[in-house]
Amino acid sequence: MENLDYKFVQELDEKYYLNTYGTRLPVSFEYGEGCTLYDSEGKSYLDFLGGIAVNTLGYNHPALNKAILSQVNKLLHCSNHFYIKSQAQLAGLLVENSCGDRVFFGNSGAEANEGAIKLARKYYYSKHQYRYEIITTLNSFHGRTMATLAATGQEKYQKPFEPMPTGFVHVPFNDIEAVVNAISYKTCAIMIEPIQGEGGIIEANPEYIKALRKICDEKGILLIFDEVQTGIGRTGKLFAYEHYGVEPDIFTLAKGLGGGIPIGAVVARESVAQAMEPGDHGTTFGGNPLACSAALAVLMEVTKASFLEKVNDTAGFFMGQLLKLKDKFPFVKDVRGKGLMLGMELDERVSGREVVLSLLEKGFVVNCAGHNTLRFVPPLIIQKEDIQKLIKALENELADITKSHS
Ligand SMILES: Cc1ncc(COP(=O)(O)O)c(C=O)c1O
Repeated sequence: MENLDYKFVQELDEKYYLNTYGTRLPVSFEYGEGCTLYDSEGKSYLDFLGGIAVNTLGYNHPALNKAILSQVNKLLHCSNHFYIKSQAQLAGLLVENSCGDRVFFGNSGAEANEGAIKLARKYYYSKHQYRYEIITTLNSFHGRTMATLAATGQEKYQKPFEPMPTGFVHVPFNDIEAVVNAISYKTCAIMIEPIQGEGGIIEANPEYIKALRKICDEKGILLIFDEVQTGIGRTGKLFAYEHYGVEPDIFTLAKGLGGGIPIGAVVARESVAQAMEPGDHGTTFGGNPLACSAALAVLMEVTKASFLEKVNDTAGFFMGQLLKLKDKFPFVKDVRGKGLMLGMELDERVSGREVVLSLLEKGFVVNCAGHNTLRFVPPLIIQKEDIQKLIKALENELADITKSHS
């Protein structure tokens, strides 16, 4: 039977929406429950994408829904000219659970990074030092606003929008020598993703991160971690920096923080945060009562005693299963990642996009990130049984590809 609902949505989209997403994946979801999404025909899909690392608690989570609905009935929005209860509480909870001392809320990852960039520049401005340049890495992704695009180390995203804002220098990832060579009297910060997400789940080496901290300390440079994708339990720790025994001066959050309600955060050490003065920065929507109530509910769940223990157990199982597939299929080049931020890189004989489409057809949502890498960033409540189902489907898919190649 023809799916009229889906066709209608597709037609509307193709007629009226800015064509920024090209031909989208051929499904329109209606609702979700736990880690399962349902399309307009009622077909179910196990979700290993979680809205790209956003739906931390899956769909229709009772605690998250309760917090959102109760806030909806009270107050959706009020201006940042006033004190906002859930905003203050959320800031407090983030600080209690992190190396940061002060928080600012925006609405997205890009906005959070914009805030971090401004804060780093303001820090030196307030010290009367002409240091504004930020070193970032190639293959990084920091957002789509002009400054975060300039920070993003991928020419393909920048080219059509040149000239880029100045003040960003890109160096190869995991190359400490390159960072050392790029540092000048103008350098105010080094900004990295502890695991490059959009770039294809590429992990920073622990020695690299430690060396970055050391250089920053020696040279008085700020270390910024973009934890927009890695934050809020995604890697098995509340924040990815905890894996390395290194604390950034500023870190940013977004995606998983609101569990599906848009919110971003800049978190900074007191000495850095002090640089921001009244009037320096602000937002209409950022940190509004609704977004902060949602994020508060998410953070309270993720910081419960056994939550991350369970995530790590599930993640260990997932990684083990993916590694078995790597051993079995020669065109699986690599399996990598931390916690529930995992990637499977396929070699040039296989199209990641085709695997994504075929798995979607079979009722599994994954996506393909940089370097032909299947990216798995499911809700953190994913169960081992669900993982087993995905692995079976993936194994069949890879076996079919092997057959078609022989
Ligand atoms: C590490 C990182 N930083 C920043 C962003 C931008 O976030 P947003 O799309 O919410 O602006 C993303 C989005 O994928 C990201 O993965």
